[in-house]
Amino acid sequence: MKKVIIAKDADELNKIAAEKFISIAQNALEKKDKFTVALAGGSTPKSLYNLLASDEFRSQIDWRKVFFFFGDERNVSLNDEESNFRMANENLLKPLQIPPENIFRWQTELEAANKIAENYEEAIKEFFDLRENPPARAGNSDCLPCFDLILLGMGDDGHTASLFPFTEALNERLKIAVANPVEKLNAKRLTLTFPVINNARNVIFLVKGADKAETLREVLQQEIQPNKFPAQTIKPTNGNLFWLIDKEAAQLLE
Ligand code: 6PG
Repeated sequence: MKKVIIAKDADELNKIAAEKFISIAQNALEKKDKFTVALAGGSTPKSLYNLLASDEFRSQIDWRKVFFFFGDERNVSLNDEESNFRMANENLLKPLQIPPENIFRWQTELEAANKIAENYEEAIKEFFDLRENPPARAGNSDCLPCFDLILLGMGDDGHTASLFPFTEALNERLKIAVANPVEKLNAKRLTLTFPVINNARNVIFLVKGADKAETLREVLQQEIQPNKFPAQTIKPTNGNLFWLIDKEAAQLLE
């Protein structure tokens, strides 16, 4: 199921997103005692994280049952202002007093990007109890984690997580977590792969601001160009896809 919801402004967008987060978590926790979420980085989700940690929302779920992962990360130290972990920790995890054992971050102190990615993949496989067998092969969801929720943003170039246009990670169909060389950033970014994201039960895109409007029109309503607009490749196989957008970002949509 794919749903596009347009909010009148950033405040309403965050409220809708927080309510959706909580309802997905409450649904999941009716059936099991763990709720797994991969957080988005960048600047957009910061105010959503603050809202989730506020008195209005913090008491609506038992956060001890929530397990936090990260859809992508920059290859920087966890105290670096560029760190997605740092942003989420300051605005959500610390305020909610999430225990460290419920937080699975990319261990960027391991230096080599490929090692960080391998380490993160192992941590995810262990948490989700994924066996090597049957051997991982494209489309074999037995070898993929199934997150209850993956939060995503979208760059004005159409990237999501750290799946940037015309980069090698766009073609990865077996691995869970990779280091993705991004020429225009002159850096390797760390990211979950499309098979993982599309194996989630729920995916929420949170997009706001006029600077995203043209790209959003391309991604949602124009020709499919997966290398140019990686966000177009997000199509959960069995899960729900929610595009939560503010009016500014939606202004060019028909
Ligand atoms: C990151 C994010 C990335 C982000 C987009 C949008 O590490 O930067 O995961 O995919 O969601 O770049 O970023 P803004 O929210 O800052 O516009």
